[in-house]
Amino acid sequence: MKVEQVLHMKGGVGKDSYGNNSSHPRSVISMVKPILGESIIEVYSAMSSFECLKIADLGCSAGPNALLVVSEIIDIVDEICRRLKRPRPCLQAFLNDLPGNDFNAVFTYSLPSFYERLEREKGTKFRNNCFVAGVPGSFYGRLFPPNSLHFVQSSYAIMWISKAPKELVSKTGSSLNKGNICVAKTSPTAVLEAYLEQLKRDFELFLRCRAEEIVSRGCMILTTMGSINSNDPLTIWEFVGLKLNEMVAEGLIEDEKLVSFDLPYYAASVKEVKNVIEAEGSFKLQKLESFSIDRDDYIKKADNDHVVDKTARSAIIARDIRAVGEPILASHFGQDIMDDLFCRFEDGVLDYMEAHKCQYINIVMSLTKKDV
Ligand SMILES: C[S@@+](CC[C@H](N)C(=O)[O-])C[C@H]1O[C@@H](n2cnc3c(N)ncnc32)[C@H](O)[C@@H]1O
Repeated sequence: MKVEQVLHMKGGVGKDSYGNNSSHPRSVISMVKPILGESIIEVYSAMSSFECLKIADLGCSAGPNALLVVSEIIDIVDEICRRLKRPRPCLQAFLNDLPGNDFNAVFTYSLPSFYERLEREKGTKFRNNCFVAGVPGSFYGRLFPPNSLHFVQSSYAIMWISKAPKELVSKTGSSLNKGNICVAKTSPTAVLEAYLEQLKRDFELFLRCRAEEIVSRGCMILTTMGSINSNDPLTIWEFVGLKLNEMVAEGLIEDEKLVSFDLPYYAASVKEVKNVIEAEGSFKLQKLESFSIDRDDYIKKADNDHVVDKTARSAIIARDIRAVGEPILASHFGQDIMDDLFCRFEDGVLDYMEAHKCQYINIVMSLTKKDV
């Protein structure tokens, strides 16, 4: 099945939805805010006061994060206008994700509260000049007309590549990455190379499409999960793979099912993304930074009263990973094994993470479209 048909976060507004289990990406968005601020100032300074500021969030998903960056941009623009005594511009924000994303939840639940806040904090005039639209489609293709966007952002989305590399299956039909669902410690070098080649093809296409869509001197901020070296294991999904192996050994999943599954996921290193940006050539790389965070850092930070113990932290991480991974895993392995899989995941995840010193590695890049 095509990735577009099976890759989406858990929709709705229930306790298992992505919207209710996305605090970690939310905390990363907040950490990137200073870089966002610098970029928006650059974009806004190059615009005339009468232009409508057009921005897009690619891979917005659903829940509170879907409109978070748009809200942050509005706050930044509001502050600049106040400082420079310029009128607030009209703003159009496009929210993009794959068609299977729960856009209904975004427009039914998140957008009304977004507009209420805007009206309350910035007034009716600003609220009436802010337009939000959904744009379903893959960002590995054109989404917008030429030269139509001033600013693009994407957070925690471009590590999802367009497909698992076809080279993972040999000419005789055998799997190169047997027993793993992604790049893992036990993966042969050929697997790593195949994923890297797919990332290069996809990321280059992503940049080429955005270069068409973004105006000259327009900006883009991309935040993604990364790796320190290209041979770092992708540990959280590797751990899901270990649990699937356990279930194969117990006869709960057919071996063939596991052998034929590969996640369309590759966490690139700083050097790998830099090489693609430079080779593609449309954007000037203003900033490229990486930072690591403990897997349970966002939970500990929110736990002011120190009441969340290790068991509760494991449950939160399991719910978070399930909200992301369940739709694609269930489409291949079946919905009926999901409870068992994520129970096993929850049982061992923190011990595994501690034993292997696993961290979330994040890469943030700030790019400006070159003048042509
Ligand atoms: C982990 S979520 C991140 C959502 C949100 N940006 C956040 O920070 O919470 C990744 C999102 O990227 C979307 N995505 C993955 N591949 C995509 C593609 N090719 N085109 C558009 N969206 C994509 C997924 O559907 C998912 O909603």
